[in-house]
Amino acid sequence: MIPVERTYLMLKPDAVQRGLCGEIISRFERKGLKLIAMKFMLIPKATAERHYGEHKGKKFYDSLISYITSGPVLAMVWEGKNAVSVCRAMMGKTDPQDSAPGTIRGDYGMDLGVNVIHGSDSPESAEREIGIFFKPEELVQYERSVERWIYE
Ligand code: RTP
Ligand code: MG
Repeated sequence: MIPVERTYLMLKPDAVQRGLCGEIISRFERKGLKLIAMKFMLIPKATAERHYGEHKGKKFYDSLISYITSGPVLAMVWEGKNAVSVCRAMMGKTDPQDSAPGTIRGDYGMDLGVNVIHGSDSPESAEREIGIFFKPEELVQYERSVERWIYE
């Protein structure tokens, strides 16, 4: 049986504005992760505050909320073996100045407050974040015939 973990990924307003969505989605597809939900949306302020609740009170909180609500985002759920840590590794460090080349933030970003992509930092955060952005029935169940060429 294929072990399954889900993660919540979100292409932030800068990725949408800069036309980077297709290239970034391609990376997750090519890796072998399975897309199970996607929504293009403007995040209501209250939803952004729920999503980034752990950062409330920090000095960057207000600018983070205004950035993430400044334009449309592409919200997604991806599934796969250790999907959370695999995707975080693909994203690179939080600050694009420190992210290694070859990672998403390392290849596409220049500054901490405009860092292209969000990804859940644990399976528990993933469940919480998926619940904020998607209804259970919006997570699409389907079989991929290629699965046996991705997992041993
Ligand atoms: P994210 O939640 O967006 O995936 O990013 P992350 O886990 O890598 O980083 P996190 O610590 O959760 O921070 C959330 C977002 O807040 C901005 N930030 N600014 N000025 C600062 O010190 C600072 N620290 C974080 C970044 O945009 C980061 O993605
Ligand atoms: Mg985070």
